[in-house]
Amino acid sequence: MFENMSWGKTNRIYQIVNQRDDRCLMLAIDHGYFMGPTHGMETPRQDTLKLITHIDALMLSPGILTSCIDPHWRSVGWVLRATGGNSILDEDIDNESLILQAEEAVRMNASGVAVSIYVGAEHQHQTLINLSNMINQAAKFDLPVLGVTAVGKRLSDKREKRYLSLASRIAAEYGADIVKTYYCEGFEEVVTKCPVPIVVAGGARLNTPRDVLELTYNAIQCGAIGVDMGRNIWQYEYPAAILQAVKAIIHGKASVKEAADILESQSVASNCRKPLFEAGDENIKD
Ligand code: 5RP
Repeated sequence: MFENMSWGKTNRIYQIVNQRDDRCLMLAIDHGYFMGPTHGMETPRQDTLKLITHIDALMLSPGILTSCIDPHWRSVGWVLRATGGNSILDEDIDNESLILQAEEAVRMNASGVAVSIYVGAEHQHQTLINLSNMINQAAKFDLPVLGVTAVGKRLSDKREKRYLSLASRIAAEYGADIVKTYYCEGFEEVVTKCPVPIVVAGGARLNTPRDVLELTYNAIQCGAIGVDMGRNIWQYEYPAAILQAVKAIIHGKASVKEAADILESQSVASNCRKPLFEAGDENIKD
């Protein structure tokens, strides 16, 4: 799948993607870079501890890597968020610049870097140039780049195949090694029209855990290599349980029913998230 890459880039890619099946279970915990202490991920060190054994890679911001992840730990890959510059208090969140340089990412032993693009948004141009700049920098270090097709607030209804095909293809044309985008009706077309592998985001919490399993299953059936999912894992009552169910679909070829059985059997007290703070609808709707 990742042919024609240099040794260094191939090696880093396979810190993110499981070499046994070329699939990827990435846990996104980078939300704090614009959402602050997001519900379910208020204490990243503790909140990821029980989850890290089930994943291939983490997607996270540089400060959370250095403050919350033990440097002795090298069992998963990490993809560092490299764009930012705003917060949910802004009108929209597309006014982004690079907040991390490739050289710094390599100093942190990153397996890759993630750059968001906001196609069709007010700051589209600037975010595409961010992607281009990072791809040029990263090439010097054989550092993989994950292109993230973000939608922000104004474009949040754009999660349909025409738009997602456009944004994913643009990210690939610029040279992203993997594209992260949203699942949609007719997703197979998005995958087919994107020449590099795709992972899907989860988005805000879905209504039921079965919806999460179905989204994962359908995305894989349509050709995605995996997920890069956050809130639908760690905002769930039993994060380690739903993660194992998602993993069974991605790496174990499980059906939705088989994954649901795993979810049920793992939904035990030891996997239960113990909320530290009260959360209202306003904390989970974003
Ligand atoms: C936004 C992002 C997020 O920061 C995050 O990684 C998304 O994860 P999820 O939507 O599954 O909570 O990439 O574009």
